[in-house]
Amino acid sequence: MSDTSGSIVPLTPNLPAVPVGAVTPGVVEPFPLHLRDLRDQVQRFLLEYEFGLREVETKISILRDEFQEMHEYNPIEHVTSRVKSIDSVLDKIRRKGLTLDLATIRAEITDIAGLRVTCSFAGDVYRLFVLLTRQDDIRVISVKDYIAEPKENGYKSLHAIVEVPVFLSSGRIEVTVEVQFRTIAMDFWASLEHKIFYKYREQVPAGLREELKDAATTAAALDAQMERLHRELHGGQSSG
Ligand code: GTP
Ligand code: MG
Repeated sequence: MSDTSGSIVPLTPNLPAVPVGAVTPGVVEPFPLHLRDLRDQVQRFLLEYEFGLREVETKISILRDEFQEMHEYNPIEHVTSRVKSIDSVLDKIRRKGLTLDLATIRAEITDIAGLRVTCSFAGDVYRLFVLLTRQDDIRVISVKDYIAEPKENGYKSLHAIVEVPVFLSSGRIEVTVEVQFRTIAMDFWASLEHKIFYKYREQVPAGLREELKDAATTAAALDAQMERLHRELHGGQSSG
């Protein structure tokens, strides 16, 4: 029977079990204990981000449900979330030239937990952003408004890095979460841009870069047109 208590590790059927942490001279461990410790540490580390995400997801879903109830209007089209994979955390550590300790990673990599809130209209993007960030247990670390100032390639979204408290059995911790707010048109552009241009990374050919920017302008025009139509039909109770 396999051991699930965590305190005893059976090595092979013929050898006696030893407590975790004990080093038995001459015994070859099936899985080195320091690797097991490291794995547990990384798992716990990522779990904190999973919990942070859940807290922010709950906040967003409460806002959505309350909005629906109070205003008979749902400003959110969809919400997606992810905790970065270990590979992609390691990639970023390498790119940023960080040291491999958890405190540094915690402080320097602010998008390990990421939530994307896709709203119906630009007005909803800012409204949701304000409703989330003004909550008194949320600490805003930084905001990048790529809607007011789109990136060179045409990318638009409103990014907020926030800290949210999570209550563990060992006490309260603050977890950093990146929240991206955008409209469906912005999301459409960003998703496909990522798919089409991912392999080029920084060196997208100039002609394609221009076309990409044109597509972003088209998406923005569509956003504006749909929002105007919505306002004309629904007036004050809408996204404005
Ligand atoms: P990263 O190291 O990529 O996280 O960038 P950063 O720390 O400079 O932050 P920034 O706010 O610029 O971008 C964070 C995230 O926004 C990215 O991980 C993407 O999810 C998204 N993003 C930013 N720029 C682009 C873009 O040009 N295209 C697409 N598709 N997504 C982008
Ligand atoms: Mg990122």
